[in-house]
Amino acid sequence: MLEVKELRSGYGKGVVLHGIDLKVEERQAVALLGRNGMGKTTLIRSICGLEPPTVTGGTVTLAGEGILGLSNYEIARRGLALVPQGRRVFGTLTVEENLRIGHRPTDGGWDLGKVYELFPRLAERRNQPSGVLSGGEQQMLAIGRALMTNPLVVLMDEPSEGLAPAIRDVVRDTLIALKEDGQTILVAEQNVDLALDVADRLAVIGESGRIEWEGDPAELRNDPVLMNDLVGL
Ligand SMILES: Nc1ncnc2c1ncn2[C@@H]1O[C@H](COP(=O)(O)OP(=O)(O)O)[C@@H](O)[C@H]1O
Ligand SMILES: [Mg+2]
Repeated sequence: MLEVKELRSGYGKGVVLHGIDLKVEERQAVALLGRNGMGKTTLIRSICGLEPPTVTGGTVTLAGEGILGLSNYEIARRGLALVPQGRRVFGTLTVEENLRIGHRPTDGGWDLGKVYELFPRLAERRNQPSGVLSGGEQQMLAIGRALMTNPLVVLMDEPSEGLAPAIRDVVRDTLIALKEDGQTILVAEQNVDLALDVADRLAVIGESGRIEWEGDPAELRNDPVLMNDLVGL
């Protein structure tokens, strides 16, 4: 569904990604791990057509079509939705306005009613400016807003960052539910436990600016030495 090949990207003369190969099959959840600063956000922004960074090589295909070089707007239109790091909801708009902005109705797909069913908390706060929501509620809103576009693939950049454990569990359970519902997901995470719980496959970006390890969550869970090597735990 989403395939990245030999992707090179960076900032000015500083190359961060030196050839990333990564595949997310339809209905699969893939977690992208890597220590802080390894290039998870750079990869996700490159895939979405956001600048900076600047992509200097490679290919990205979504549902069989090349999307590299297209505008972020066009890439979104073709079915890629981003839940950005730090959530970035439009603080002066209400919850409901945020959700409506990108709504692309499909038969049986996500709409306001379904998002409110997924996150009852958002229904309660539908008329409040989203700037007054808690971090957890803003994360729900950012996820809801992405789902409203009825995307082929959702990219999430550290959705559990800065959240209290109870809310982190809500995010985890939501991702698991979405995956079971057939949503294709690529999620960058530093929280390894969450990644292990959610993902069908893991990919780890290392210092080389490449994917240094790929495999099943069970392999990593049962191998503390490998885990320490890859993600420093
Ligand atoms: N806007 C930017 N300009 C210059 N360098 C950047 C910028 N954003 C990130 N970087 C650098 O790129 C590298 C990868 O960062 P990032 O993709 O944010 O990593 P991660 O998301 O894995 O924490 C880091 O060395 C970071 O300092
Ligand atoms: Mg990041």
